[in-house]
Order: sequence, then C-alpha cells, then structure tokens
Amino acid sequence: MTVYKYPKPLPSEITPKETFLNRRSFMKAAGIASATALSGGLAINSSHAMTPSLEFSKSKYSITDEPNPIEDIKSYNNFYEFGTGKGDPAANAGSLTTKPWNIKIDGLTNKPGEIDIEDLMSKFDMEERIYRLRCVEAWSMVIPWVGIPLRDVINAYEPQGSAKYVSFETLVRPEEMSGQRGLGGLDWPYVEGLRMDEAMHPLTILAVGIYGEPMPNQNGAPVRLVVPWKYGFKSIKSIVRMSFTENEPPTTWNKLAPNEYGFYSNVNPTVDHPRWSQKAERIVGSGIFAKKRETEMFNGYADEVASLYEGMDLAKFY
Ligand code: MTE
Repeated sequence: MTVYKYPKPLPSEITPKETFLNRRSFMKAAGIASATALSGGLAINSSHAMTPSLEFSKSKYSITDEPNPIEDIKSYNNFYEFGTGKGDPAANAGSLTTKPWNIKIDGLTNKPGEIDIEDLMSKFDMEERIYRLRCVEAWSMVIPWVGIPLRDVINAYEPQGSAKYVSFETLVRPEEMSGQRGLGGLDWPYVEGLRMDEAMHPLTILAVGIYGEPMPNQNGAPVRLVVPWKYGFKSIKSIVRMSFTENEPPTTWNKLAPNEYGFYSNVNPTVDHPRWSQKAERIVGSGIFAKKRETEMFNGYADEVASLYEGMDLAKFY
C-alpha cells in the first residue's frame, strides 16, 4: 500500500513567502500572467505564451505519486452534460463558453452575492494539489489540480449558524451541452452537496486548473469541486451556484439510484457497489494489461477525515 500522509515538500521546493509575494506583485504590476515558474517544480511549457498560466504555490497536502500525463486526464472523462462515453467530453466540450462566468452564492448566508471567475481567481490564493481521483466505477488517476481551498471562499461569504450543508449546481445550457439535449440522461442541473464540515475541510478545493493551466472544458471548466476522499461523482464540474442549506441537499446520482449511490459516498474498499467490487481500482493509462491498485479507505486520507464520520458504521452504505 502506498503511504502518502501529507509529505512535506523538500526545502528546495518551497518558494520563500517573501520572494513569492514580491514576484507576485511584480508580475501583477507588470501584467504578466505566467507565474508558474514560482511554483518551482512543474514542467510547464513556457512556449504556451498565449494561454495564461496560473499563479499558485505548492501544498503540503499533495501526494507524492507521479501524476498521469495530461493526455490521460483530458481524454478519459465523465461529464454527462457532453455525453455518456469516456471520450465524449473531449469530443464535445469545445462548444462550452466559459467567459463570462459567474458563481452565485446564496441561501443561509449574511453575504449573498455573485462572483466572477476572474475575481475568484485573483481574490483567493491558489495552490497546487496533487490528488488521486477515485471514480465509483473502480478506476483512478493522479491529477495535479490548481485550486482554492473551499473553506477560504466559504468564510468570505459568512454562512449563518443554521447552515449545515453546502449545495452545488452545474450550468444548464443545452445549446452548448449536447448531453442536455433530447430525452433520457440525468436530471439537469447536475447537483451535489457536502456537509459543512466536509466543505470546510482543508483537503476540499475549488479547482480552476490542471498542470498549471486553466481547467480544460472536459474536466469542468472554469471551476469544479474536488473532494479527494470521496468517489469522483461528488466532484461536481462547471459550477454556477453554491447555496448554504439547513437540510441535506439532493444529489444527482443519489436521486437516480439511491440504492447504488449515497450522499456521503466516501471511498471505502469494504463496501461494494451492488454491481461490482470496490476493493481495487484500475489505473487509467497503464496500458492494455491495465495495472490495478488496492483501494484505500477514504482514498488514503483516513487519518485526516475519519473523525468527521465518528459514530457512523463505516461498513455500511451511505
Ligand atoms: N460533474 C458534472 N456536472 N457532470 C458529470 O457527469 N461526473 C462526475 C464528476 N463530476 C460529472 C461531474 C464523475 S462520475 C467523475 S468520476 C468526475 O467528475 C470525473 O472527473 P474528470 O473527468 O475530470 O476525471
């Protein structure tokens, strides 16, 4: 079993904060968007001069496993708004326009409002988070996300004491989202939710990029959730609304098949899906004789998140 308990970055990998901030304000003043070199580790192709790269720092929360190549991450997707096949999002998501993009924040908050994606990215500090994405379909890949800790955003919007959950909603725009046209499919918008303490956990991020570049459309541009200890379907893409609620919000897959997908959906190798085992996962991109790895409790984050579920019988389906 791989052990990856928040490995500390090597001293050589840490950009001294002062240098980071100085260079950051310099780059802002000079109007230079690309600051990925500051992160000191990622091999970003600087010849992508036309694509604005993201400013971010490294994080102690990253795992040390080698990330999958960008080709895997961009070509093998689940994004039902663009079709149900693994290659459909890559083939069809080019039609999605992500500028302008606003996220509405409402419900039980003292500061309801709307934030533009550009403001979100400039107001909050971004970090690289290398996480394994473990899909409920028993495959996984390692993805170097760039994101904002969700708790920072939540704190800025001051949820009221009665807020116990956060719900999330994906865009509905059938003219650009081919999977939303016609009959069948899911009930749109795709909706998801977290309990407030899960949303406030430091591992939970709003991801805006991969490999230092803005989020590819097929991965949920311009902003999606990433909750690394839960099955991938909790990590809702292309978010347009976040609401603070008192009651557990409905979630797309749970509405469709409540006996197969729970609200919590924590990665758990001891609880099989009714139609397949969850004990192991196929490593995407490992060739025709695909390699497998043992699935870990909470996807490897048991020490960090198990306490959130004290009193719940983890051998049970939730
Ligand atoms: N979000 C929306 N809006 N629509 C979806 O179909 N699929 C989920 C999740 N978020 C999905 C979604 C599932 S099942 C998984 S495994 C992950 O996105 C896949 O993320 P990736 O394509 O970036 O690997």
